[in-house]
Amino acid sequence: MALNSFQTSGNSPGDRDARCHVGLLGFGTVGAVLARRLTGADPVPPLVLTHIYDRRARDKRARESAPLNNLTWVEHFDDLLASDTDVIVEALSAGEPAVDYVRAALLAGKSVVTASRQVMAHHGPALLTLAERQGRQLRYEAAAGGAMPIVRALGDGLAGDRVLKIDAILNGTTNAVLTRMESDGCTMEEAIADACARGYAEADPSIDLDGTDAAAKLSILCALAFGLRVRPDAIDTRSSKGVSIDDLRRARLRGGVIRQVAHAAFARPKGVLTAWVAPIFVPDASPLARAYGPQNAAVVTCQHAGEMSMAGQGAGGDAIAVAMIADLRAIARDRAAIVPAPVLVEPHEINGFSEQTFAEAV
Ligand SMILES: NC(=O)c1ccc[n+]([C@@H]2O[C@H](COP(=O)([O-])OP(=O)(O)OC[C@H]3O[C@@H](n4cnc5c(N)ncnc54)[C@H](OP(=O)(O)O)[C@@H]3O)[C@@H](O)[C@H]2O)c1
Repeated sequence: MALNSFQTSGNSPGDRDARCHVGLLGFGTVGAVLARRLTGADPVPPLVLTHIYDRRARDKRARESAPLNNLTWVEHFDDLLASDTDVIVEALSAGEPAVDYVRAALLAGKSVVTASRQVMAHHGPALLTLAERQGRQLRYEAAAGGAMPIVRALGDGLAGDRVLKIDAILNGTTNAVLTRMESDGCTMEEAIADACARGYAEADPSIDLDGTDAAAKLSILCALAFGLRVRPDAIDTRSSKGVSIDDLRRARLRGGVIRQVAHAAFARPKGVLTAWVAPIFVPDASPLARAYGPQNAAVVTCQHAGEMSMAGQGAGGDAIAVAMIADLRAIARDRAAIVPAPVLVEPHEINGFSEQTFAEAV
C-alpha cells in the first residue's frame, strides 16, 4: 500500500509534511465547532483542516466567512477520499451509514477519528483490526464519554491494573434532563425541550432516555476494561422516561438523587459479566451524584489501585470537539504508530439488573 504524503518526508516546522492535513465528515453541531477551532484564532498545530464533506456543503459554505469558506468543501465522499488529507474526522449524524465511510477511509490509507458510539459499539473490533492492518489509526475518545477521557483512562492509564467494576453516567442528554427537572421542578417534556435547544439532545432523544445510547457506550467500555465483546443489545436497559418530579423529591428526602447509571462488573474466574443501564437512586456521597447538566461521570473500581473517579461534559459541540482534537493530536504526534487491535472474548454469561447488583452498584 502506498504511503500518503503525510508519512513520507521530514518533520521540520512549516514543512507541509510536518503538518497533519485533516478532512471533516459532517458539518453539524460537532463538526462546525471542530472546524471553527481548527481554523480559528487559536489553531492547533500541526493540525490543518483542508477539506469539509457534507451533503449540503454548498449551502453551508455560503453561510460561512473566511477562513472556513476558503477551504475545499465537497458533496461527494469520493472527493474527500481522493484528497491529500491524512486523517478523516467522522462527525455525521447518529444513524447515518458512518461505518461505511470509516471503513472506506481506512482502506484509502487515512487514519480516522470518530465520535460515533454506534460505529464503535457495533463495528469497533473489525474496524480496529482493519486500521492495524492498514498501518493507520482509529481513535474514538468522543464515542464513549464526551470530553471525559475514559477511553484513554481505561486503555492506557489503568492498563497496569485490573478493572473490576465501572459505574458511570454516560448519557449527557439524560443527565441534563433529570438534573433540570431536579433543580427547576419542570416536567420531563420541558426538560427535553431545553436539552434540544441547547444542542445536547440527538434528533431522537428517546435513545438517550431509554438507555440504548448508554448501553452502546458501556459495550465500548467493556471491551477496553475487561477485553469483552458485548453486543449493546445484550445489555439490560431500563428507561428513564418514567422518572417523575415526585421520584426526584423522594430521592432528595432519602439523601440522594436519581441518575441514569450504566453499570458493568466482571467476575473473571467465572467469566460472568453483570451489565445494565437504569435510572437508580444515587446517594449524595457518590461522585455520580455531583454530575449536573450534560456532564458524564464515572467511578472505576480496580483490583490494585482501588477506586478512581472522573467527570466531564458529555454532550455539546464544544465538549465533543475537545475529545476529537485530542485524538487528532495523538495521531499527529506519532504518525507511524501501529495500534494493536484488542483481542476480545465473549463473556460466559451476562446478567442484567437486579436489586442485589443495584445495591452493590453505587
Ligand atoms: N451533539 C452532541 O452533543 C454529541 C455528543 C456525543 C457524541 N456525538 C456524536 O457526534 C457525531 C456528530 O453529532 P452531531 O450532533 O454533530 O450531529 P448533527 O448535528 O446531526 O451533524 C451531522 C452533520 O452531518 C451531515 N450529514 C449527515 N449524514 C450525512 C451524509 N450521509 N452525508 C453527508 N453529510 C451528512 C448533516 O447534514 P444535515 O445538516 O443535512 O443534516 C450534519 O451537517 C455523532 O456520531 C454523534 O452521535 C454528538
